[in-house]
Amino acid sequence: MPVVAVLGAQWGDEGKGKIVDMLAEKASVVVRFSGGDNAGHTVINHRGKFALHLIPSGIFSPLTTCIIGNGVAINPAGLIEEMDHLNQRGIDTGRLFISDRAHIIMPYHILLDGLEEKWRGGKAIGTTGKGIGPAFADKSSRLGIRAGDLLDRELFRERLHAVLDYKNAIMAKVHGIEPLSFDDVYNQYCRYGERLASHICETTGMLETAVRRDETVLLEGAQGMLLDPDFGTYPYTTSSSPLAAAGSLGSGIPINRVRGVLGVFKAYCTRVGGGPMPTELTDETGELIREIAQEYGTTTGRARRCGWFDGVAARFSTRVNGFSGMAITRLDILDKLPVIKVCTGYSLDGETIDYFPANIAALQRCQPVYEELPGWQTSTCHARCLEDLPTAARRYVSKLEELSCCRSSLISVGSAREQTIEVRPVL
Ligand code: GDP
Ligand code: IMO
Ligand code: MG
Repeated sequence: MPVVAVLGAQWGDEGKGKIVDMLAEKASVVVRFSGGDNAGHTVINHRGKFALHLIPSGIFSPLTTCIIGNGVAINPAGLIEEMDHLNQRGIDTGRLFISDRAHIIMPYHILLDGLEEKWRGGKAIGTTGKGIGPAFADKSSRLGIRAGDLLDRELFRERLHAVLDYKNAIMAKVHGIEPLSFDDVYNQYCRYGERLASHICETTGMLETAVRRDETVLLEGAQGMLLDPDFGTYPYTTSSSPLAAAGSLGSGIPINRVRGVLGVFKAYCTRVGGGPMPTELTDETGELIREIAQEYGTTTGRARRCGWFDGVAARFSTRVNGFSGMAITRLDILDKLPVIKVCTGYSLDGETIDYFPANIAALQRCQPVYEELPGWQTSTCHARCLEDLPTAARRYVSKLEELSCCRSSLISVGSAREQTIEVRPVL
C-alpha cells in the first residue's frame, strides 16, 4: 500500500507519534500535512524519548525522507530548536524538507492567540498559545507569509510591510499593546530563512516520484478528528483539518493515490482544552486513569481530561475519514480496572440518539448511554499477538471495533515500538 494516512480519530494525543515511528521503518517518505507546533508527538525508541512538534515522526529511520508539507504552519524558531535538539542527540536532519508553500507563524500570531483567548474570557478555547488560529486565519485571508517568502528578501519585505502595519493597528487599537518593530521582525525572520534555506524547497515533485515508484509514503496527521473545524466540536476546535482528506491537500499527493487510512484511537478518551466531551469522567476513575496513564500534555503540560471510549464519536470519525483500519493504543492503561464502560449512544433531552450533534449546546446536554464490560486485571504490556491478550481484553477490542465500524490493524500495549500487536498489515 504505497500511500497511507495515519490520523488522530478522537481529540488528539492518541499515540500517532508512536505508530508513525514504528511504521516509518518501512516507509520511504513521511509527510506531516497539517497543524503546527500545537502538536506534541511522543516517540520512544532505541534512540531514547523524544517530543516532536513539527518534525515528522519518521526522522528516526535513517533512510526515510521527512517532509513538512504545505498544510503545516511553521514556527521557525521552534523548528530550529527541534532540529538542534535532535542533532545534539545524534539524529540526522539532513533528510528533512520543508514545503516552500507552508505558512510561517509570525510573532504577531502568537501575541494575538493569547490576546484573543483573553478576550474570550470564560469562553476561552484553551488553545496551546502557539499562534495556530491567527496563522491559519491569515492563510485564508491571504495575509500569510510562506516558507519560500523567507528566501526572497525583497518579496518578504513587501509581504511583511503589507501585513505588519495592519497587525500593529489591531494590537494597539483593539488590545492596547505596543506595536512590533518592522526591522526587528524582518531581520529575525531573514536569519531563520538563512538557517532553514537548505531545507525549504518545492516538495510535490519528490512526492510524485515516490508515488510513481510505488514507494511507501506515510501521511502523518496532527490533532484529532474531533478538533476539525468542520466536523469537530466547533468553535472548540483547532484551525486546520486533521482529517484524511487534508492528507492530500496538505501534501499535494492526489486523493486517488491515498490507499489506506489508519485511524489512531486511544482505548479510552482524552481531551485538552475547553469544549464538550460527553464521556468525560470528573470523578476518581477519571483521576485514576490520568495518573496511571500520566495524561499530561506533551506541548503545554496541561492535565488531559479523561473519559470512557465514546462509540458515537468513533463511528462519526470512521464515517468522515473512511478508516481502512484502526490502531488501538494504550490498551495497557486499562489493565487494572475491574469494570470498563463504553458509550454506545447519547441520551439527548430524554431521547436516545446515535449521531454526534453539530450544535455544541446540544452536545453539552448529551448524557452518554453506557455498556459495562468486565476488566481483565492482568498486565497486557508483554502481549505481541492477539492470543497473548486475556479473553476480556480481546472482547473489549472487539467491542471497540463494533462501535467504530472498523477492524483493528494494530493494538498498542505500551509506548515502545515493539509493544505492538499487528492484527492485520497496515502497509
Ligand atoms: P500523539 O500526539 O497522538 O502522538 O500522542 P502523544 O505523544 O501526545 O500522547 C500519547 C502518549 O501515549 C505518549 O506519551 C506515548 O508515549 C504514549 N503511548 C503511545 N502508545 C501507548 C501505549 O500503547 N501504551 C502506553 N502506556 N503508552 C502509549
Ligand atoms: P497532537 O498532534 C491535543 C487542542 C488545544 C485546544 C484546541 C485549539 O499532539 O494530537 P490550537 O492551539 O490548535 O488553536 O488549540 O486544540 N489541541 C490539541 N489537543 N493534541 C493536539 O495535538 C492538539 N493540538 C491542539 O488543546 O483545545
Ligand atoms: Mg500529542
